[in-house]
Amino acid sequence: MTRPYNFSAGPAAIPEEVLQQAAAEMLDWHGSGMGVMEMSHRGKEFISIYEQAEADLRELLAVPAQFKILFMQGGGIAENAIVPLNLSRAGTVDFVVTGSWSQKSRKEALKYAAEVRTAASGEDSQFTTVPAPASWQLSRGASYVHLCSNETIHGVEFHELPDLQALGSDAPLVIDFSSHVASRPVDWSRVGLAFGGAQKNIGPAGLTIVIVREDLLGHALPVCPSAFDYRVVAENQSMYNTPPTWGIYMAGLTFQWLKRQREGALAGIAAMEARNIAKAQLLYDCIDQSAFYVNKVAAHCRSRMNVPFFLQDETRNDAFLQGAKQRGLLQLKGHKSVGGMRASLYNAMPLAGVQALVDYMREFERLHA
Ligand SMILES: Cc1ncc(COP(=O)(O)O)c(C=O)c1O
Repeated sequence: MTRPYNFSAGPAAIPEEVLQQAAAEMLDWHGSGMGVMEMSHRGKEFISIYEQAEADLRELLAVPAQFKILFMQGGGIAENAIVPLNLSRAGTVDFVVTGSWSQKSRKEALKYAAEVRTAASGEDSQFTTVPAPASWQLSRGASYVHLCSNETIHGVEFHELPDLQALGSDAPLVIDFSSHVASRPVDWSRVGLAFGGAQKNIGPAGLTIVIVREDLLGHALPVCPSAFDYRVVAENQSMYNTPPTWGIYMAGLTFQWLKRQREGALAGIAAMEARNIAKAQLLYDCIDQSAFYVNKVAAHCRSRMNVPFFLQDETRNDAFLQGAKQRGLLQLKGHKSVGGMRASLYNAMPLAGVQALVDYMREFERLHA
């Protein structure tokens, strides 16, 4: 039986092979007599799962040795507080606001940073474009610069991370990569810290991945909870408190799946990037070639992961969604704050799923245009 195609923005589709392996190992992991959810996080079985997952993520994303990989809880929303608690050093922090998620991060930082400045904002364009880095008003001596490298709701993605040094700033760059982690390589020479929830591209909700340069550890504000102090988390190999063991296990299975992926001569994340570009192109071409559907995001920053689109005639939204569901195309309803439709094309979505969506969109247009 083929499963429906699931376009959810998160929690989102997980590769079927991963789900099958987890199902097969549910009652007895590798002859241990225990399921992963039943294991002590301090036992040798779970430690081996954790170490493999960390090593695989480091390999896949080519994370340099001077960065720590932390497996935490709390999701992206908690990181909006945890980042300023650890990195703001009671100083100024800069935000580049390109949609709802960076806006939310900025608001939360107001509670912890002495000063929060907006270096640039795409709000005037209703978040349909990213202000050019050369126009950003970066603060002198800022503790860090925050941006959301893929805005899940507005469908805006930085296809290239800014080089802050070239823009005259020595501040570390913090990226919220919740909704495109593992979809493309990361240029770590431009990043101080990256964070993201696992529930879009990596596994179930409950696991948060933080990748942080070592020199940024050890500067938490005194009020920072110990469980959220990156230095404490790093010194305890993410086990200062009980980590989200099931999430780490599922992430590990996904990392193994990612390592097996091939696209021509490309492997792993490079293969995923090529596949993700092809998937997004197929859908954007369908939208752009039609007068029936619209996406207003500027071409240079259209998200490859989250494609919001609108029917010109919004009275047909319900019929569109109903017909989609009948064809096994699930969870296409747009975020409530923007309406319309949204197709999330994370790593687990095959090209065939996007083709099925495009075929349906063309058919719906023929019947209703
Ligand atoms: C880009 C981005 N950042 C942060 C969040 C919030 O993450 P969480 O719900 O894991 O706290 C989301 C959730 O969708 C997101 O898409």
